[in-house]
Formats: sequence, structure tokens, C-alpha cells
Amino acid sequence: MKKLNWGILGTARISQKLISAMKLSKRSQFYGIASRSSQNAEAFARQWNIPKSYSSYEALLADPTVDVVYIPLPNHLHAEWTIKSLEAGKHVLCEKPLALSVIEVQNIINASRQHRCFASEAFMYRHLKQTTQIKQMIDNGEIGNVTYARGSFSFMLDRPEDIRLVSLYGGGCLWDVGCYPVSYARVMIGQTPAEVEGFQQVGPSGVDEFFIGQMAFPCGALAQFDCSFRLPSYTCFEIRGDQGTIHIPLPFNPSSTSNVTLHKQGKTKNFSFRAPHLYLGEIEDMNSAVLGEKPPLISLEDSLENVKTLNALYQSARQRQPVRLIAAP
Ligand SMILES: NC(=O)c1ccc[n+]([C@@H]2O[C@H](COP(=O)([O-])OP(=O)(O)OC[C@H]3O[C@@H](n4cnc5c(N)ncnc54)[C@H](OP(=O)(O)O)[C@@H]3O)[C@@H](O)[C@H]2O)c1
Repeated sequence: MKKLNWGILGTARISQKLISAMKLSKRSQFYGIASRSSQNAEAFARQWNIPKSYSSYEALLADPTVDVVYIPLPNHLHAEWTIKSLEAGKHVLCEKPLALSVIEVQNIINASRQHRCFASEAFMYRHLKQTTQIKQMIDNGEIGNVTYARGSFSFMLDRPEDIRLVSLYGGGCLWDVGCYPVSYARVMIGQTPAEVEGFQQVGPSGVDEFFIGQMAFPCGALAQFDCSFRLPSYTCFEIRGDQGTIHIPLPFNPSSTSNVTLHKQGKTKNFSFRAPHLYLGEIEDMNSAVLGEKPPLISLEDSLENVKTLNALYQSARQRQPVRLIAAP
């Protein structure tokens, strides 16, 4: 069987994780790497054993051999290059956040429809068995009605020149890591918040380096989260229902084995999950879509709701007041 050829735009550090996952894929391979610098592209291709290098992103998109484009560019370039890739007839796996505004996501949806190519946001956690099984437990009523959820994602950002600290590039900890607990809460509760409130601490470069938010969902459930570039590495997520609580210490980037605890009726039950590779699921999900088996797990409409929520949280933090996403009944 011919393997699907994937190309990468930019020599980003995160690509190394995808490259190691791709080695486990039987249906696809990384065929090309494009950089703004031909030297960087050649060096990256040599280092990671990628057959083809290109001295511009446009050159990769012009190559008919490339089937799928992986986009790990700074956040402000996600929408632009996703749309250019779709216009070139390529399917796209784009890093989170898919875009920085609702209009950008709507433009991606239009381009995907017009050019009949898939685009999907690279939230790797969504493809893990851990995530799908927890969602199933909730939908099966294991913890009763979900009342409350809370999550954290923080790390110490110690590279002053990092793209995450550049406001014009869509920097900020909410865009970078806060997008995970927001997405997790939306997925587990199964709705978009009706109302949100955000609080931020802005650092010297002008981006949020600490952000906390709360979200009220139409079903009545409430959620809270925190994210930061200035707190030690930490993640967790907890979902509380009127009959039990699920605690997930590594919800977003678990290692090969991860543990989840269900507290119910005075008893504690532990579940263990194994994942072959954190980033393989999103690759195989896109391969399945391109090969006509099923649409991507993360639809563009789903990403639209996340981007809408993140923008409302930023708006709330700026204006120092709650923001409604759904009109009050
Ligand atoms: N899913 C995950 O687990 C995960 C983890 C980390 C990051 N990410 C996401 O992946 C993306 C990249 O993050 P990263 O930390 O890997 O990025 P990075 O190492 O800083 O690389 C970004 C790449 O973008 C290209 N680029 C184009 N215009 C640029 C500009 N004006 N300034 C800087 N670079 C520019 C550069 O490639 P060339 O110079 O070669 O063109 C650069 O190597 C972000 O959207 C981030 O949110 C996701």
C-alpha cells in the first residue's frame, strides 16, 4: 500500500515528537520539511531522515507528492497556512490553537468545504484511550450528573525569546496551555459555556503569564481552570458528579502508562491506561480521514467552539467582567 506523504511547515521543536510517532505508522511517513531558510530545512531533513527539503512553505505546498501538511508554526500563522494548504489541495493537521479568532476558523471551514480537504486541530489528548474511556464513563452516568470540573496546566517558560511570549504571534499561557483544560471541560461536559469569567496576570512582554478562568455551562455545570508560564510543571483534571468524582493526574500529556481514580460511594477504584505514543493517535486519525474511513475526530465546528470560548475568556479578563456566549434565557 502506498504510504501517505506528510510535509511539515517550519522546523519547530514539537515536530520531533510527531516524527517519532510517525515511525510507528504503517500508513504514512514524513516526506518533506519546509523552512524559511533552505539551510535549516536541509539540516532538519538530514537530522530526521526526511527525504525532501524545501526552501519555502509555498514550495512544499506546490509539490503534488505531499498529501497531508502538519502545521506547527507560531499561533498567528495557523489560520493563514491552514487555508493556503487547503487551497493547494492538501489535508491539514494544525497545532493548537487552530486559530486566534472565530472569523479565522470560519474561513478555514469555508476553505475546507470549497477544496474538499480535511483540516483538524492537533489536540493529541483527544485521541487517547484514557480520554475516550473517561468520556464514556461520564456519558454512562458513572458519576451521576456532572456538577463541577476543574483543571490545571502550568510550566516554567525559561526561554525569553520564545514565540509564546510574543503578543503579535498569539502568545500567552491561555492560548498555549489553558486551551487544554478549556477543551477538556467542554468535551467532558459536552457543551460550550454559556458564560465565562477570566483573570490574568500579564508579564513584561505583554502576554498573559498566569490566567485563571471559570465557565458556567447551559446544563448547570460549573468549571474552573488555571494555567501559567510561571508555575512549576503541573497538570490535573477532576470531574465531580452528584454520585462520584473522577481524578485524572495526567489528562493532557500522559506518559506511556497513566492512572485515573474513581471515587464513588466511599470506595476508590484505580484505572490504568497504556498509550503506544502520545502523538500517534492524531496522525492515524488524519490518515483515516484521508483514506475515506471516517471524518477527523476533532471537527472544525468543535475547534470553533474552543476558539470562541478562549476569546471570551480573554475579553472578560481585559474588560474585568463576565462575558456571555449564549444569550440568557
Ligand atoms: N501539541 C503539543 O503537544 C504542542 C507542544 C508544543 C508546541 N505546540 C504548538 O506547536 C506550535 C509550535 O511550537 P514550538 O514551540 O514547537 O515552536 P518553535 O520551536 O518556536 O518553532 C516554530 C517554527 O515556526 C517557524 N516560524 C515561522 N515564522 C516564524 C516567526 N515569525 N517566528 C518564529 N518562528 C517562525 C520557524 O520555522 P522555520 O524558521 O524553519 O521556517 C520555527 O522553527 C505552537 O502553535 C504550539 O502551540 C504543541
